[in-house]
Amino acid sequence: TNYSKVQIIEVGPRDGLQNESLPIPTPLKLRLISSLASAGLTRIEATAFVSPKWVPQMSDHLQIMKQVPKIQGLKYEVLTPNVKGYESAVSTGSVSTVSVFGAASEAFCKSNINCTIDESITRFSAVVSRALHDGVTARGYISCVAGCPFQGTVSVSDVVKVYEAMKEMGVSEVSLGDTIGVSTPGQVTSLLSALKLSSPNLDDIAYHFHDTYGMGCANVLRAMDMGVTKFDSSAAGLGGCPYAGGGASGNLATEDLVYLLDGMGVETGVDLERVVEAGREVTEFLGVESRSKVGLAIMRR
Ligand code: HMG
Ligand code: MG
Repeated sequence: TNYSKVQIIEVGPRDGLQNESLPIPTPLKLRLISSLASAGLTRIEATAFVSPKWVPQMSDHLQIMKQVPKIQGLKYEVLTPNVKGYESAVSTGSVSTVSVFGAASEAFCKSNINCTIDESITRFSAVVSRALHDGVTARGYISCVAGCPFQGTVSVSDVVKVYEAMKEMGVSEVSLGDTIGVSTPGQVTSLLSALKLSSPNLDDIAYHFHDTYGMGCANVLRAMDMGVTKFDSSAAGLGGCPYAGGGASGNLATEDLVYLLDGMGVETGVDLERVVEAGREVTEFLGVESRSKVGLAIMRR
């Protein structure tokens, strides 16, 4: 096991907000990012350079990346589905990592980025080669690793195929997206066992759980047992993909993840109370409760 240290990738400002229909003011998003940084998060996915027609909530991506606070040791990551998004992202000068995002399911790929898996690989290769040339880190997401809202089951071999293609492009890390939150520890075991054949230490793997069925923390523990040390999560458990047909609920909450890891003495560098505070202004603006059980418990005590 790798119980000494875990890296958290905070995706709240992107995955957490992208599915909200109420337009969130740019200054509020910037305050969220700053508070997450002061909570000790060192990898923050700040926005997405996607089409404003497809995801209006992310249409202020340029303003966000031009105004984010530059802090030593803090890395900003953004989604870039194509070269257009990539160029726009790097023009801001504050992006450390660009992420391409594909899927293990054809139907989801079409719905989310309007192309086939094969076409997506060609598009992403162009983005990743530009990034490598420019010295920008590239990350790859695979959505629907445990199930697809349109086609149902997704086979482990379909996930492995996309993983191999992304590695061949040169991404430094692959994030396994359980887009609709249907993973169980058993499914995590099957998928990671298959990936271990290509990546024995799983050190290029991050897991991205959504907590739809409440299995997030159980899945994290299983993945850690198998060697995974990087997890995506979202403050207040906000999040979901607008192209997942209503099937995606919030991401695994950063508060829940930090409480779990704190309790096991695993180092994260993240201050739990400050994450709760970071999420609070956004949930209040949206008029919703935190979707983190830990967050709610802390606010009520
Ligand atoms: P398309 O319509 O096929 O693309 O969309 P196109 O190339 O024909 O362009 C159409 C229009 O979009 C054009 O504008 C382009 O200029 C513009 P028009 O001429 O009509 O005015 N455009 C762009 N604008 C800004 N930035 C860009 C860009 N590219 C084209 N980068 C496209 C294809 C990929 C652009 C579109 O489908 C899209 O933006 N999709 C993004 C959907 C999305 O953001 N989904 C949520 C994120 S993924 C997720 O949540 C899952 C994850 O969390 C992991 C998990 O949980 O599984 C990562
Ligand atoms: Mg997601």
